[in-house]
Amino acid sequence: MDPLRNPYAPGAGVKPPQLAGRDADLDAFRVVLERVGRGLPERSLMISGLRGVGKTVLLREFQSLAEQYEWSTAKLEGREGMSLRGALGRAVHLLLRSLNRRHRLEHRFEQLLGVLKSFVITASPGGEFSLKLEADPEPGRADSGDDEVDLTELLIEVGKAAASVHTGVAIFIDELQDLRSEDLAAIVGAFHEISQQQLPVLLAGAGLPHLPQELSESKTYAERLFRYRNVDSLSMAAATEALVVPAQRLGVEFTEPAIEAVLDASGGYPYFIQAYGKHIWDVADRSPIDLEDVQLGANEARRELDVGFFGTRWDRATPKEREYLQAMAELGEQPTRSAAVAAHLGKPAGNLSVARDQLLKKGLIYSPGRGLVSFTVPRFGEFILSRQD
Ligand SMILES: Nc1ncnc2c1ncn2[C@@H]1O[C@H](COP(=O)(O)OP(=O)(O)O)[C@@H](O)[C@H]1O
Ligand SMILES: [Mg+2]
Repeated sequence: MDPLRNPYAPGAGVKPPQLAGRDADLDAFRVVLERVGRGLPERSLMISGLRGVGKTVLLREFQSLAEQYEWSTAKLEGREGMSLRGALGRAVHLLLRSLNRRHRLEHRFEQLLGVLKSFVITASPGGEFSLKLEADPEPGRADSGDDEVDLTELLIEVGKAAASVHTGVAIFIDELQDLRSEDLAAIVGAFHEISQQQLPVLLAGAGLPHLPQELSESKTYAERLFRYRNVDSLSMAAATEALVVPAQRLGVEFTEPAIEAVLDASGGYPYFIQAYGKHIWDVADRSPIDLEDVQLGANEARRELDVGFFGTRWDRATPKEREYLQAMAELGEQPTRSAAVAAHLGKPAGNLSVARDQLLKKGLIYSPGRGLVSFTVPRFGEFILSRQD
């Protein structure tokens, strides 16, 4: 089929041609927006799941939904070792500018920029931030040096400004698990206060499956403060939709056995559906796409996934870390007990803790509970076992 018209979209955060199986999540977010807009109590939303299930895409959909409601929004992405103040400062700056464009906050805008400036320069008096703020810092606001206190003060000011013009603001944070735990605690603390004051400031975050745990560990009340949604592989019906609808729009059908084979090969994981769809489309030369096309295309897709999706992650592991991953793969079932990994390798657990911690840090594994480890990428174990080198 014409590669120029290929509709499939494998890639991190790339909008899929058909967002399948996420209606319930979108409805839930719509309800949140409506309720906050009416001044009703509502909880911020946290999405968790493995890599490649569509968290980033969903977060973006939430953001455009909020924008459709005329809310001002900002987005940032957690990164290892990031300064939360700097990143949030930039995000809130954009958000305030959008709020001001929509609602003409007049002198209140200057004052808000002043609070923002206090917030930002408190972390970096040397002014290493590129943020150019044409405002005088507001002394005594958001400048205590305590991240939680300052973030709370900043967001309260932003929330009051939004409320005064009858709108809401939303901050979207992807890869939340990569924030330092103090920063996570500051965010949770600030949103606790925001929710108590019922201000129209919403947080929507996304992260790996252990995000709910990490949040609870940062503050015990995090459990009640947020609404959690776990995103995973798609149901059979949704996976079929994700595969079939984009082709159908271009007048291309799949035979039943072809569909079944793709669902089977992809396990319904959104990233894999896109990758298989893309290669199958390219090898097929007529509609309907049949089992033979799927088999040919799937081989190509697998090769690409092995290099791009799995291989790039495998390459980031040192030989010691690979040994650990290999043992996890050989043990099969996820999650695995770290004690079982040690036993499998015939080494004392203490000898492996460095490799384990590095793998956690690199985001190749996560810990779903005390003494447990699990791959962050679906089917990573199968990839490791099938490797030949
Ligand atoms: N609901 C969905 N239906 C079909 N494809 C999707 C869906 N959600 C995501 N995708 C596709 O899956 C891939 C991974 O999405 P992404 O949001 O980057 O995942 P994550 O952030 O969870 O790692 C992208 O290629 C995207 O187009
Ligand atoms: Mg993502």
